[in-house]
Amino acid sequence: MSAFTKNILVTGGAGFIGSHLVRYFVNKYPDYKIINLDLLTYAGNLENLKGIEDAPNYEFVKADITNIDEIRNIFTSYNIDHVIHLAAESHVDRSIENPLSFITTNITGTAILLIAAREHWGDFKDKRFYHVSTDEVYGSLGAEGFFYEDTSYDPRSPYSASKASSDHLVRAFNHTYGMPVVISNCSNNYGPYQFPEKLIPLMVNNILHKKNLPVYGDGTNVRDWLWVGDHVTAIDTIFHNGKDGETYNIGGENELQNIELVHMLCDLMDEKLEQPVGSSRNLITFVTDRLGHDARYAIDATKLKKELNWEPSIQPNEGMSKTIDWYLDNTEWLENVTSGKYQEYYEAAYGNRDLV
Ligand code: NAD
Ligand code: TYD
Repeated sequence: MSAFTKNILVTGGAGFIGSHLVRYFVNKYPDYKIINLDLLTYAGNLENLKGIEDAPNYEFVKADITNIDEIRNIFTSYNIDHVIHLAAESHVDRSIENPLSFITTNITGTAILLIAAREHWGDFKDKRFYHVSTDEVYGSLGAEGFFYEDTSYDPRSPYSASKASSDHLVRAFNHTYGMPVVISNCSNNYGPYQFPEKLIPLMVNNILHKKNLPVYGDGTNVRDWLWVGDHVTAIDTIFHNGKDGETYNIGGENELQNIELVHMLCDLMDEKLEQPVGSSRNLITFVTDRLGHDARYAIDATKLKKELNWEPSIQPNEGMSKTIDWYLDNTEWLENVTSGKYQEYYEAAYGNRDLV
């Protein structure tokens, strides 16, 4: 008999959101065994999990979700009874440069996990497949309105199309085979350990190194920002209390235009670095817009709040300040992850970007 009440496979647990989730579950649920499966691509880093490596209820397995033999073996060896699936290629700009890796990892990888889970689980008793997804599957909003759980899918980038496809596969396994699944679609996250290709850590890193701050287009695109710790508590809530077959939207109701956010980051950084006010704003450079750039995302999270009593804990001003403090205290982490593999990619993808 195992000492653990659940064996939970978390995929992508060495990435940004996954590492926060794994740390939270390992600490909060000593009676659950957390098996963190990650391929450690440029975006996955075991440094993100410092402090929990030796916990008795934690194990790391390096594996590829697109390799069906590896995945089948893991289900059997660890007798997996729950999955929280986060592993993905996650950056829209990279999906524009190289769509195929998104299609392979996000679609085929999800299909392989579903197939292996179904084979291992038999009658599905006390099992759950939790798929972590994005609000980008709903497309792009105009100035008004929100994404609801029943908003029609209208993905517009290779990234969001691959996530939409994986959501459909998860629902199909629920409908066809009766697999117990739950899906959440979350807005843009921010916080410690986010890879500095995404807007916030990229800007913080560039401000630190006095490099240009590339704002795409005119900077008026809107994103709805959520503290990563609040995404983790939402996943915890949905994992334990969400209903089988349901979808929950997760968001912080914190819409900001990109340029407003960049201004906020610049001003906070000037204050923290004791620089003259306005020094960082001088680095802002408007660059050629992203292809097919979605105008606005905004989540209505009423269902999650009303049915499962979840609330976000912090507002962006406080969250951004905490986030910047973390990056300033962890410049070595920033240096480590921006060297090597990532640097090569960054230069290939952005080195020749035209300035407007
Ligand atoms: P991330 O890029 O930081 O991490 C992804 C992780 O997946 C990495 O550790 C990487 O090594 C791993 N991975 C990639 N390919 C793999 C493969 N073939 N096999 C095993 N592991 C592999 O991503 P993130 O920002 O933490 O996002 C995690 C999940 O949450 C994704 O599914 C993403 O679509 C979703 N999501 C992200 C956000 C956001 O704002 N970041 C918002 C909503 C939903
Ligand atoms: P990003 O962090 O890539 O998340 P997503 O595209 O999934 O929302 O980008 C957030 C917003 O910031 C998006 O509108 C694109 C914009 N952006 C820039 O203006 N400059 C940048 O260098 C990056 C990476 C993003």
